Amino acid sequence: MSSVFSEAAASTPRHPADAAHRAPCTPARTHWRAAALDALRERDPLAKAEAVRALHAEAQEAASQGMTHWDASSTLVAHGELPGRPARPELVEPRSLQRRSMSTPQGRVVLLHALAHIEFNAINLALDAVWRFANLPDAFYADWLRVAAEEAYHFSLLRQRLADYGQAYGDFPAHNGLWEMCERTSDDVLARMALVPRVLEARGLDASPPIRARLKQAGDDESAAILDIILRDEVGHVRIGNHWFRYLCEARGLDPHAAWLALAEQYNAPRMRGPFNFEARRSAGFDQAELDTLAAQDAAAASESAARRGAEEK
Ligand SMILES: [Fe+2]
Ligand SMILES: [Fe+2]
Repeated sequence: MSSVFSEAAASTPRHPADAAHRAPCTPARTHWRAAALDALRERDPLAKAEAVRALHAEAQEAASQGMTHWDASSTLVAHGELPGRPARPELVEPRSLQRRSMSTPQGRVVLLHALAHIEFNAINLALDAVWRFANLPDAFYADWLRVAAEEAYHFSLLRQRLADYGQAYGDFPAHNGLWEMCERTSDDVLARMALVPRVLEARGLDASPPIRARLKQAGDDESAAILDIILRDEVGHVRIGNHWFRYLCEARGLDPHAAWLALAEQYNAPRMRGPFNFEARRSAGFDQAELDTLAAQDAAAASESAARRGAEEK
């Protein structure tokens, strides 16, 4: 079983985070999953992002020489609270978060902060997949460490953009929804693959284009360009999720469509809401039946809201 990204990862750096860390600069560790757990526990966001990039570079370098140190058969135990995160941002209920128009700099800063928080959580989610689940192929761990490195890159781009606006990560409150789904699915790697990349990260594919358009409309081309990079990489993350979801379904003799419906109900998956980015979802590996289900859902929601509007006008 080869990594979804193994060829690209071995040859062409896709962004500066890769290129800057190709040289072996740290002594080889013997257990990369334990190192991923250490990075997950790191509280300082910058130190966490740096630890992830260094570990990814080390793993890539070793893999290019035919060596791996995933120690897949070890069951690791985390002591203390996960994930490591800074004292700020303050975590609050989602409904208490402020929403502001993106036409004002203050509104854009609130948005950029929310996106930075998503990326910080996304680093943690990917690291959690690396350390928590034992006895998977090496390519599983390589894929999720690569995702963690890309999330660290996204976080660093947004952190820098916030600094351009004179703000820092932690300056605004945030919610903990992403990590809560991570905790709910910590007992089963199939549920994790079903609900985190295929639901939460896939929602990002739908959300990106309208946010990018509003940033562009407000004249914030630099932030819009960051959204482009994030969307490009997130298609890959969802593809990795789809790949491993189907791999695990096959290994357990499950039909992926039936398994998905059962897991969505069992784990109380958030309801999917359109409009959907069908092109990105197709590139990310959702099959025609899955896309057709979303299209039908979209059409039903549109006719429901048209009926509601009609009733209100009467
Ligand atoms: Fe990301
Ligand atoms: Fe992602």
